[in-house]
Amino acid sequence: FRDSFAPKAVKQNSDSITRFQPRASSFKVAILGAAGGIGQPLALLIKMSPLVSTLHLYDIANVKGVTADLSHCNTPSQVLGFTGAAELPNSLKGVDVVVIPAGVPRKPGMTRDDLFNINANIVKDLVEAVADTCPDAFIHIISNPVNSTVPIAAEVLKQKGVYDPKKLFGVTTLDVVRANTFVAQRKNLKLIDVDVPVVGGHAGITILPLLSKTKPSVSFTDEEVEELTVRIQNAGTEVVEAKAGAGSATLSMAYAAARFVESSLRALDGDTDVYECSYVQSELTELPFFASRIKLGKKGVEAVIPSDLQGLTEYEAKALEALKPELKASIEKGIAFANKQP
Ligand code: NAI
Repeated sequence: FRDSFAPKAVKQNSDSITRFQPRASSFKVAILGAAGGIGQPLALLIKMSPLVSTLHLYDIANVKGVTADLSHCNTPSQVLGFTGAAELPNSLKGVDVVVIPAGVPRKPGMTRDDLFNINANIVKDLVEAVADTCPDAFIHIISNPVNSTVPIAAEVLKQKGVYDPKKLFGVTTLDVVRANTFVAQRKNLKLIDVDVPVVGGHAGITILPLLSKTKPSVSFTDEEVEELTVRIQNAGTEVVEAKAGAGSATLSMAYAAARFVESSLRALDGDTDVYECSYVQSELTELPFFASRIKLGKKGVEAVIPSDLQGLTEYEAKALEALKPELKASIEKGIAFANKQP
């Protein structure tokens, strides 16, 4: 389980998550939107982590049943449920990592930006509560459009005077998980060995897989680059269409989010060799937020890794320039929303 979470670039220690051994240090994790399509399988995966002592499940409905169900798993962590706005502050008390998959998912024909009006308000309200109750926590934003909801969260935290850019993350792990899977399939590679950095943002052409930086080193024809890039960018839509109105990616997203939580907890636990791609405040490009590989440490983002953006192919360099206007507009839309007068 642990092995399948960790890409090659991430150091693995000797603990096996499958043995459920209690650990000296253990952490509190809260999921906001825990009764949803992503929230439920994510809660199950986090319940299996030996790094977690307490798991708080918050939603506006249906938490009681999910909590009762999950609490019967004989893994060490305790599961507590919280329903409705009145219980939100208690769900956040003493929490080390807050994961936010609350909000509506896409239906066929919708872009992630079509979710803006509903999800922007949900993220704003939830992050205000995080700022009031657990301002030191790592905040993982899953709710779409991530390109805008992360800047919204940053503005809310600034307004509350508690913004720490090192602790706010847009979860783009699913783009990496998909890139690894599709490249391994296309090139007949062993899946566990493959690591493809994905940079930019998390919507359409702003998702930029850097295939030239694939590990292990592998060569692609121009046709393969085009085909794989487009498939990785549209993989979310592939799932939305296959589900035909029943939502977007939930199981693969839960897997990806659980991997990012596990990496964050390992970093908090003192592992000094943890790397993931994430959408964070960044000086890598002229854009204020940008997804790239980062080094995680006890205090959050320890370093934004610049090397993946060096020596790009012509195709990648062009795609990088092409994504910037769209990503810039999404960032500005989020900032404007958060700062508009009520
Ligand atoms: P869902 O509709 O199945 O679940 C959402 C949950 O959020 C529901 O249980 C709902 O009651 C809850 N919720 C709504 N308003 C809330 C509030 N104010 N406070 C707390 N909980 C609230 O949706 P699903 O499939 O779980 O997707 C959730 C979000 O994740 C969507 O915005 C979707 O677009 C996004 N997503 C992000 C991905 C990524 O790679 N970052 C990938 C896939 C989905």
